[in-house]
Amino acid sequence: MIIILNFGSQYAHLISRRVRELGSYSEILPFNASLIEIKNNNPKGIILSGGPCCVNEKNAPSLSREIFNLGIPILGICYGQQIIAKKFGGKVETGEKREYGSETIDILNKSDLFEGLPRNQKVWFSHGDLITKISKDFKVLAKSKNSKYAVFAHKKKKIFGIQFHPEVTHTKYGIKILENFIYRICEEEKNWKMENIEKEIIGRIKERVEDEGVIIGVSGGIDSFVSATLLKKAIGKNLCAVFIDNGLLRNGEANEVISVFKKMKFKNFYVVDASRSFLKALKGVLDPERKRKIIGKEFIKFFEKTAKDIEKQKKIKFLAQGTIYPDRIESAQSSKNAVKIKSHHNVALPKKMKFQIIEPICDLYKDEVRALAKKLFLPNEIIGRHPFPGPGLAIRVIGEVTRERLVILRKADSIYISELKKEKLYDKIWQAFAVLLPVKSVGVMGDSRTYENIISLRAVTSIDGMTADWKDIPKLVLEKISNRIINEVKGVNRVLYDISQKPPATIEYE
Ligand code: XMP
Repeated sequence: MIIILNFGSQYAHLISRRVRELGSYSEILPFNASLIEIKNNNPKGIILSGGPCCVNEKNAPSLSREIFNLGIPILGICYGQQIIAKKFGGKVETGEKREYGSETIDILNKSDLFEGLPRNQKVWFSHGDLITKISKDFKVLAKSKNSKYAVFAHKKKKIFGIQFHPEVTHTKYGIKILENFIYRICEEEKNWKMENIEKEIIGRIKERVEDEGVIIGVSGGIDSFVSATLLKKAIGKNLCAVFIDNGLLRNGEANEVISVFKKMKFKNFYVVDASRSFLKALKGVLDPERKRKIIGKEFIKFFEKTAKDIEKQKKIKFLAQGTIYPDRIESAQSSKNAVKIKSHHNVALPKKMKFQIIEPICDLYKDEVRALAKKLFLPNEIIGRHPFPGPGLAIRVIGEVTRERLVILRKADSIYISELKKEKLYDKIWQAFAVLLPVKSVGVMGDSRTYENIISLRAVTSIDGMTADWKDIPKLVLEKISNRIINEVKGVNRVLYDISQKPPATIEYE
């Protein structure tokens, strides 16, 4: 594997994904991971990420010099390069000019890092500090207009520093540079392939679970679905899947989930219709955080009860969860140098449920989960579905959640989504949904005055939900959707289109 030591970069996950796209497994560790932890992972190479700090600051994140004596190739990117420079006695100063954006570098010396690449190349810089002196142990490999030491390498050891960002697509040969590092310099093997991943996960589950029982809560989302499918392949009838219908799903979704699980021949599949109880608990509640808490509590109540019922017939030792890699890293490494972007939204089951936790896909990124889902022949409607929040439509019916208001939202949302699919826009959008606002507006229908609900439509493009941009849906498509909603959904006389970005808005409204 390749280890990425994270100095608080927003790009650490991007570097990690690039390494995996190139066919090698990667893990992100915090910059202060111990040498023992690093060695125990037996990495073929180490990448030092960028970061928001200045290496000269008093409490700037740093690392032990010993890391350079492990004999493991190292590539420092941006802040990572500056740390290398400083640790070997070089000098880093705050640059007069920030180098931000596209620049050209000139390669001055031959190196494995640039093997097969042209002498001049476009790269993407994003730094304020500048390396102004390097140790005699290093030689310069490339320079740019402002950086004398845009790329350097140790003369004897396999230690490299680059000031620009190879992981972003604006760096024309960035992927090739990373590939050269991983395969030419680190001599890593290309073994991160879907076939191996599936086999390895199933093998690991078998080894750990043996003949014990496992319970998993499924929602219809891809993560729990892929986890359940892998578990089923590994342990068959010893898996119990529980689907709690909270009554807050989209049009026809609960039935769809049930029929897909049946079609996939899940043996111990338990469906719990808890919609009445959820709605009762939400009665009169307006505050978003309270809604979320109530939904979480209700879920636990029903899940615990179902687990107990199951346990009357079958001993359960493990609770499986569909945690994926970014969730795992973000909850484990909210290091003080990384800016916390999103806190964990999902329900943590109480510790008193004395199950051991098993997380089959906790090493995978979302795109890897999707690729695995395809390999497992999961239905397209699950693989391509937009993300859907745990609290469901309760956080899209702004204000009080009632059966009637859920009906209005479901109808509007279903028209919206079906039109996006018809226009072949659905797959180009990261997430689209309708929201029912808690205000009414005056309208005129025929000769009468109306005083009805307002629907807001949201559609965003995003990579990972952490930042998002509104999707520029063609005007005529929006107009058609608006007309259909107003004509077909009783109780709605106005449709708005949301053009806010995240940040400062969030994707969901509550
Ligand atoms: P926000 O609204 O924070 O949402 O911009 C970012 C992404 O997270 C989803 N989301 C959730 N997902 N449980 C989930 O599983 C939740 O409680 C939850 N809340 C928000 C949201 O739909 C978007 O994709």
